[in-house]
Amino acid sequence: PYPFYAQMRESAPVFRGERAGLWHVFLYDDVQRVLSDYEAFSSHQPREEQSVTGQLFAASLINTDPPRHRQLRSLVSQAFTPRAVEALGPRIEEITGELLDQVVPAGAADLVEALAYPLPVIVIAELMGIPAEDRDRFKKWSDAVVQAAGPERVREGGSDPAPAPNHGEMVGYFLAMIEQRRRDPGPDLISALLAAEIDGQQLTVPELIGFCALLLVAGNETTTNLIGNAVLAFSGATGNSGDSGNPGVMERLRAEPDLLPQAIEEVLRYRSPVHAMYRTAIADVELGGQRIPVGDSLVAWIGSANHDALHFERPEEFDVDRGHIRHLAFGQGVHFCLGAPLARLEARIALQAVLARLPGLAVAPDARLERMESPIIFGVKQLPVIWQS
Ligand code: HEM
Repeated sequence: PYPFYAQMRESAPVFRGERAGLWHVFLYDDVQRVLSDYEAFSSHQPREEQSVTGQLFAASLINTDPPRHRQLRSLVSQAFTPRAVEALGPRIEEITGELLDQVVPAGAADLVEALAYPLPVIVIAELMGIPAEDRDRFKKWSDAVVQAAGPERVREGGSDPAPAPNHGEMVGYFLAMIEQRRRDPGPDLISALLAAEIDGQQLTVPELIGFCALLLVAGNETTTNLIGNAVLAFSGATGNSGDSGNPGVMERLRAEPDLLPQAIEEVLRYRSPVHAMYRTAIADVELGGQRIPVGDSLVAWIGSANHDALHFERPEEFDVDRGHIRHLAFGQGVHFCLGAPLARLEARIALQAVLARLPGLAVAPDARLERMESPIIFGVKQLPVIWQS
């Protein structure tokens, strides 16, 4: 479904963009190396710090290199181990049930609004100990962050730069939450981060805000899009041109629910919610026959790597019977997605409920599927569906 990527893998797999010092990387092996070789490719984004969004995340896990990265990550990794996440299962099922109760009798809904968006937000808000009722505000803030993500890096030349987002309201909100937790700690992530120390030092306020913003955004739109992209792929709908899909999949998954985890992995490969991540070269590196000088930036195109024919047979086919799928949708190496077990569990519970409770589910015939406004996040804004009620 992505002819541009196929063309680039074929003709210019490591491509120097129009803007000086910006490289685009399209092949699986190269993307894997750029994401994981932190001695050559740093996650620290010096230029991003000039932007408001960059400043917000500059002190966070995702933009930090080892050894600081390891220390920061260890502060939150306990909350996201497969075992810790498994324990959230009953609550995730309960929230899913309540959300679906509100729409089942209607026989039609926007599945993003009804389930795919609120579910991950409520879960992450509860983990962080912030009121889930504020979720409409989180949505606004995370949309602004996602739209601004990497405008100067990923969007090339001619395109208009995105208007500078104003994150003041979000920062003020988190500051208030942090202060409240300082006074009245609870069994939540923010309280745990406030109590944490690295080498006898507490986290700074920008680090705390960076963590909150990262978790709220990372845990949000990505999982929403995984659920939406799965429904699109399972129903054989074309979310974008040239998409084959597979109309029989929905029935198969209803008959064989054990296939669902594997089908979700195939969605992650075939319609990856995150299409790109960036790095900065901190050594002179040779990649795909090109010499990348220190200081240049790279865009690792995960969305392309996951369709590389050198790694996947019939990559353009959505095939739930693929065996072990080594996709790069959650990244690779030390920055491998912290929330992967949670995202997988939320998607499994949500999709299981959708298959069981919405018989005859199909994308509404008159639906206009509009892509999210982001160069790197891949999903639809709304997903109007119908079913037999
Ligand atoms: C990192 C994708 C869900 C939290 C990443 C990275 C990717 C990714 C590609 C690597 C970034 C890099 O290498 O620079 C996804 C996808 C998701 C998802 C596709 C859903 C389908 C979540 C959830 C959470 C989360 C639910 C948290 C609740 C994080 C964090 C990092 C991260 C904190 C940074 C880890 C680090 O730098 O060590 N994610 N993510 N993600 N993700 Fe996710």
